[in-house]
Amino acid sequence: MEPYQLNIPTKVYFGRDIWREAVKALESFLKGNIMLVTTGRSLTRLGYVEELAETIRKCSSAEHVIIFDGVSANPKLSEVRKGIQWGKENGIDMILGFGGGSAMDAAKAIAAGVGIEEDIGELFYGGKEPGKNTLPVIAIPTTAGTGSELSKAAIITDEQTRKKGGIRGTALYPKAAIVDSLFTDSVPFRVTMETGFDVFAHGMESYLSLAGSPYTRMQSECGIQIVGKYLPRLALDLEDKEARDKLSFASMIMGINLGNASTCLPHRLQYPLGAHTDTSHGAGLAVLFTAWINWEYEYAPAMVERGISLLMGQEICGKQACREKIRCFIEKLGLPLSLKELGVEKELLPVMASEVTGNVKNDLAAQEEEIITKLYAMSFDRE
Ligand SMILES: [Fe+2]
Repeated sequence: MEPYQLNIPTKVYFGRDIWREAVKALESFLKGNIMLVTTGRSLTRLGYVEELAETIRKCSSAEHVIIFDGVSANPKLSEVRKGIQWGKENGIDMILGFGGGSAMDAAKAIAAGVGIEEDIGELFYGGKEPGKNTLPVIAIPTTAGTGSELSKAAIITDEQTRKKGGIRGTALYPKAAIVDSLFTDSVPFRVTMETGFDVFAHGMESYLSLAGSPYTRMQSECGIQIVGKYLPRLALDLEDKEARDKLSFASMIMGINLGNASTCLPHRLQYPLGAHTDTSHGAGLAVLFTAWINWEYEYAPAMVERGISLLMGQEICGKQACREKIRCFIEKLGLPLSLKELGVEKELLPVMASEVTGNVKNDLAAQEEEIITKLYAMSFDRE
């Protein structure tokens, strides 16, 4: 068997309605001035933000808890800068990221910026890794999707330059993750489908990634199978708690894959798309996925067939069938199938293609000439 390494430095608490005990168990981490970074609205309305803040205040070593709720979807560099400024002014010692991927990514980026003199833009544009001055982060996801609670990346967007990219480094791994599926119960239909599709994308991309290992591929198979069975069930009934629990689990194990096998071209191509259109990560991935599957099939037909078969719960053979099934799956979830549907004009395609950054070498299809241009072009309109 091929040798490999695994890095899972985050302590994980997983379950339903376990967050209070988990916070208690983490009491020794919750010291000094603590910033709670959240995307706000619905979590505040449901009383979760205040209850979480109150629970932390009761921890013996916690001094002050400050709530920073100025984070939007596709978290912006300006919001991160504001959070860093707040953090410095208030002498913050640690950060909690509470919400979807946006809140957790913003929390990580703020954690990287509070302890340093230089502007966070140096890390964002310069590709510099966050260092040992990065504040400790505890991540509490409220969606089943991004896996940010277990990854070493903070994905943010500079709204001035329309660049979406990541600050990455081992210092960004959260110290602990509290994955409580209870928080996902109130997530509305569209976000549930988009984040659920992101879980599938993490599964399929890490499955086919050249940076993967037998361990991450085993997890991918499990994650893909769970999304295939339970996400359509949630599409019919958002109250299905068993399905919510399973999706939270799949999201968590795919978070481990993000740090250990990485993702492929759909994630690289979604970043410029998200930056230009401010559309969601999951919707962008859905749009790009059919074309990507088409190209991956050229290089790894058996693996693509296996992945799509696990998703569908039945044997799927042939390129056409794989494409057809993935398209039907996306349609069933009510997600978009073309760049046009996301409001992209044809003139934007070469611009986005020139802005794709990050490592594409993990992707088998990256050896195809002009693959990025081809993928955007094929995804422009419904076939
Ligand atoms: Fe993702």
